[in-house]
Amino acid sequence: LLVCCGGPTAAVTTVWGRAGLDTAGAVDFEWPLAIPPLAPSRLDAAGRRVFDLTAAPGTHEFAGRAVSTWGYNGGYLGPTLRARRGEKVLVNIRNALGEPTTVHWHGMRLPAVMDGGPHQPIAAGATWSPSWTVDQPAATLWYHPHLHHGVARQVYRGLAGMFLLDDDQRTGLPSRYGVDDIPAIVSDVNLDDRGLDDTPASFTDLGVLGRTVLVNGTPTPHLNVDAELVRLRLLNASTARSYRFGLADRRPVTLVGVDGGLLESPATVTDVRLTPGERAEILVRVRPGESVTLRSFPPRLGSTPALFDRFHGGDDTLDVLQLRAAATLRPAAALANRLAAPVDIDPATAAQTRRFRLAGHSINGRQMAMDRIDTVVTRGAVEIWQIENTDGMPHSFHIHDVRFRVLDPPDESYRGWKDTVYVPPGRTLRLAIRFDGAADPEHPYMYHCHKLTHEDHGMMGQFVVVEPGQPPALSHP
Ligand code: C2O
Ligand code: CU
Repeated sequence: LLVCCGGPTAAVTTVWGRAGLDTAGAVDFEWPLAIPPLAPSRLDAAGRRVFDLTAAPGTHEFAGRAVSTWGYNGGYLGPTLRARRGEKVLVNIRNALGEPTTVHWHGMRLPAVMDGGPHQPIAAGATWSPSWTVDQPAATLWYHPHLHHGVARQVYRGLAGMFLLDDDQRTGLPSRYGVDDIPAIVSDVNLDDRGLDDTPASFTDLGVLGRTVLVNGTPTPHLNVDAELVRLRLLNASTARSYRFGLADRRPVTLVGVDGGLLESPATVTDVRLTPGERAEILVRVRPGESVTLRSFPPRLGSTPALFDRFHGGDDTLDVLQLRAAATLRPAAALANRLAAPVDIDPATAAQTRRFRLAGHSINGRQMAMDRIDTVVTRGAVEIWQIENTDGMPHSFHIHDVRFRVLDPPDESYRGWKDTVYVPPGRTLRLAIRFDGAADPEHPYMYHCHKLTHEDHGMMGQFVVVEPGQPPALSHP
């Protein structure tokens, strides 16, 4: 049944009826964790930091077996782009896929024409060169395709990479890339005799629920570490699967960052839930010589949404990554008391509240239409967006360009700056958002469900940011 990877897998039938996947304690973490290379860059005559990416088909070895995949500058996933606050960047993206694609900078504050959404397609054989100034705090962002109706398949084949932003804040956080500051792109695939199964049968209504979980493209890897404090930058790049990451022995970890950047101060947690698109930065403290397993746990029992979590793999227990500590470990530096500026959007200043009802592959009863603007916001305004999940399916809501505050956060990880949130079935989340990017009445940004099949099926809308009193240039019902 399972042709790959890393040993036996037990299927257990849960009370919900679906055969849950349980790999806890059943894998040997044979393969070393691949670390995405840092993308080389150069400064051009205009002082811009220039990166080159080529999206192309290739091959990738999953546990010693070569499989056809897609990637940026390589067979699977992409290099890590890295820039500092205040820098102007330019990325040349050559499309060698043989079909159209786009590249979206998830979590990046930037002009809508550079956003890489469905309105910025890159034709087969073409090169697109967006440029913008990085103007936001240190964060773990990422990039991936955003082609209208075509996201799930392109991401699933391997098109995703990290984009790290740095700033001048002194934090004391581990910062040796790939040594004690570890990018961890978590995705899941189904591998069969022919390779990566991307037939429609592999896709559920949400996306793929893969039986093989990968970190940076490596199935159940291990990582040798030489420091007592290890920073994991976790990104859920799966099309559909939700994870609840914690350590197998349930020792607490320190949560230091989420989607939009570092928390104001570190928080102690035993686990952190990530639905597709979400990120979390955690610190794991290891003792000399020990092995520590990062595991994804099923939802807490007794919580109502747990009933529905089987739809996105939430009743699976999965071993994900093992940290193997050296016999002598480099001591950790002291963490700063304050890691970042506080989340400072005051909901009392909101100009208005808007409601977004997520149901049946649509938002407020409408499916995504490229030529329709759904929402017009005024530059500089604070708004409350009330996101209501009314169709019994799990949804992850993402808004382009902005970082927002979750009002009434359900846990620590929702106290920081967010750009993507889980909206459980039957629940409503209220977000406070300040639209402080540039106004452009002609070019929309997207908001959508980040369960990628939902996005592809139309659970997406468009907003434009305008100057006060300015009309949008596209039709607006
Ligand atoms: Cu990560 Cu609109 O997407
Ligand atoms: Cu959804």
